Amino acid sequence: MKVLTFFNHAGGVAKTSTVRDVGYVLGEMGKRVLLIDVDPQANLTKWLGVDDDIALTQTIYPAVLGEADRDTDEELDEPYAELVLPTPLPVHGVDLIPSHLNIAIIEREILSVFMGVVRLREALRRLEGYDYVLIDPPPSLGQLSALAVVAADQVVVPLPTNRKGLDGIPTVIKMVREYRKAAQNLRIALFVLTQHDRRTRHDRDSLDIIQSQLSSIAPVSTPLGSRPAYYSDAQVQGMPISVYAPGSDADREVRQVTAELLASLEAADG
Ligand SMILES: Nc1ncnc2c1ncn2[C@@H]1O[C@H](COP(=O)(O)OP(=O)(O)OP(=O)(O)O)[C@@H](O)[C@H]1O
Ligand SMILES: [Mg+2]
Repeated sequence: MKVLTFFNHAGGVAKTSTVRDVGYVLGEMGKRVLLIDVDPQANLTKWLGVDDDIALTQTIYPAVLGEADRDTDEELDEPYAELVLPTPLPVHGVDLIPSHLNIAIIEREILSVFMGVVRLREALRRLEGYDYVLIDPPPSLGQLSALAVVAADQVVVPLPTNRKGLDGIPTVIKMVREYRKAAQNLRIALFVLTQHDRRTRHDRDSLDIIQSQLSSIAPVSTPLGSRPAYYSDAQVQGMPISVYAPGSDADREVRQVTAELLASLEAADG
């Protein structure tokens, strides 16, 4: 089982879209896939078409902080006994642990737990039956992002080919180094280039800079093109790009990036 967190502290860089679309393609290839929404915005949950009212017990909350009303003595004897991942929801051929606005309380509650930041990692270690676990963190450097990245074996970094993408790179690299204090073997599997508008000079220049600066650190993907109509319609329909627009250029790009990710993971395995 490989656990991959799609990390970039910057907002709106296509973390959620990429988790949704790559996760779907892996599932379609016959891999057993679990997606975990660790963002209180719950975009991944909504964009996969889940509009039920999600209870806190269906989210990562019990795996991180246990049941809210448990007995204190028991907690001292068996600190991890009740930390379990909830039963995931099946969506589009993959499994999803959904999110809800209320998981935002983890940011505060986890500060009073010794080594709380490794709890999602511990819960995933006991998980069986999946080939890939893809985690979608929020756009922040808070506790939820730390939990999500520390739970991973490898990080995938979505990066738009523009000024915002370039500006975020030093912090992304610095933070991956920081997170290694809690997850020693963490490596960057792939920089996924997103929202690329090849008609603009700015994006073409940014693409060149990113490729030349980052390819010594980790593989850089072929770009996912900027296709606002597809991406916003797919969201409204609650579908991954490959379900919403099969055979389109957008679909082909997502499949190409998924193949590149698998190649990088295989190369790392030697
Ligand atoms: N290739 C693309 N072309 C056009 N629009 C895109 C593309 N990829 C993502 N978007 C749009 O960009 C916005 C941000 O994408 P997304 O929510 O996936 O990023 P995010 O990094 O998860 O954001 P947040 O930081 O808020 O969690 C969304 O409205 C999405 O539809
Ligand atoms: Mg997101």
